[in-house]
Order: sequence, then C-alpha cells, then structure tokens
Amino acid sequence: MFWKFRKFENEGQIDSFYLDFLQKNIDTNLPDQHIIEVGCSDGYTLGQFANQLPTWKFTGIDLQTQAIETALEKYKNMPNMDFICKSILDDTIEWDCDYLLSRTTLIYLNYDEIKLFFQRTLPKIKSKLLLIEVISVSDKTENLHYFAHPIKSIFEQSDFMNEFTIDIELLDYEHWISDGAAGAAVSIVRK
Ligand SMILES: C[S@@+](CC[C@H](N)C(=O)[O-])C[C@H]1O[C@@H](n2cnc3c(N)ncnc32)[C@H](O)[C@@H]1O
Repeated sequence: MFWKFRKFENEGQIDSFYLDFLQKNIDTNLPDQHIIEVGCSDGYTLGQFANQLPTWKFTGIDLQTQAIETALEKYKNMPNMDFICKSILDDTIEWDCDYLLSRTTLIYLNYDEIKLFFQRTLPKIKSKLLLIEVISVSDKTENLHYFAHPIKSIFEQSDFMNEFTIDIELLDYEHWISDGAAGAAVSIVRK
C-alpha cells in the first residue's frame, strides 16, 4: 500500500517537527556535506535546506515518477539538488553521504527489507541516519500494528552496533500511537 503522491503545505505540525528534528541533528556549520532523503516526494524537505546551504549537495530518492518529475521541475534552478526515481531497494543506488533522512518511508518496507536497507546504507553514511517513522514500542512483534517495525531490535541485530549508537524519542502525537506502535524520531549516529 503506497500513499498517494501528496502536495505539501508549507505549514503543518508534523512538517515543522521534522524540520526542527533535522535542524537539531544536522551541523549546518560544516562547509560541504551530502544529504540523501529517501521517499523525498516532491523534494519539499530538501528544498528547505538547499536554499540555505548552497555549498551542500542534496539528493532525493522516490519511486513515484510524478513526484520526481515535480521535484526536478520545481528545483531545476538549484544546481546543488538532484532527484532519482528509484525504489530505495534498488541495488544500483550509491549511498555515500553524510546524512541520510527518511520520514514515513521505511514503513513501506517489510522487516527483511529494513535489514537490507541498513546493511546497504549504514556502511556508506559518514554521520547520521535520521528517521521519523512509525515504530514498534512493544516486544510482542506478532501483535504489532501492521506498519510498525521494531527498528531498535532490527538495528541491534545488525552488524553495526560497534559503529553507531541509536537514540529513539517517541513523539506525543496521540493519533500516531496505537497497539504498541508510535511515531518516533530515531537517530542512528556514527560513533
Ligand atoms: C508517506 S510519504 C512521505 C513523504 C515525505 N517523506 C514526507 O515526509 O512527507 C512516503 C513516500 O515514500 C515513497 N516510497 C515508498 N516506498 C518507497 C520505496 N521502496 N522506494 C522509494 N520511495 C518509496 C512514496 O512514494 C512516498 O513519496
């Protein structure tokens, strides 16, 4: 089940939360960094940063053709932005970056696909993987809400525990919480 391509409003509680989370976790004093966002849709989030950080590079990936075409058109005058129309499970994607971002995109992957995503991306991330996702807050995986993943245990079962730390902050949006699942801000940070 994929969400329909969404047109973004400039304002919105969750959007401002996402931007606050990113601003808190991304060191914008560095001269040149590369940010990739998976499930970037029409590039709205990356656009917020790319305007202010012309020496940084921004890459958005989404599998929806219409979303990527809109992003390419919208940001055609931004030389530091690039958009790729592919599934994030495509094995030809080059993941080298400083920061990798996802907001409500990993929920479309199943458990094994998230494991694969971590295996492919984490070795290539120099700084942080920053996620706003619906995750499991219960150990009883069989009772999970259908789109929630036990992100922490998937990470802990990966080979990357020695290289990264994980921090999870649950979001207090009531409508995001049900049956052992909750919205969460997850930072996976290279030590
Ligand atoms: C719920 S929307 C979130 C969009 C945006 N990140 C946001 O925060 O508003 C999920 C996005 O992920 C994309 N998506 C879902 N599965 C994907 C996959 N396997 N590869 C690439 N993009 C995917 C969808 O096309 C959609 O644009």
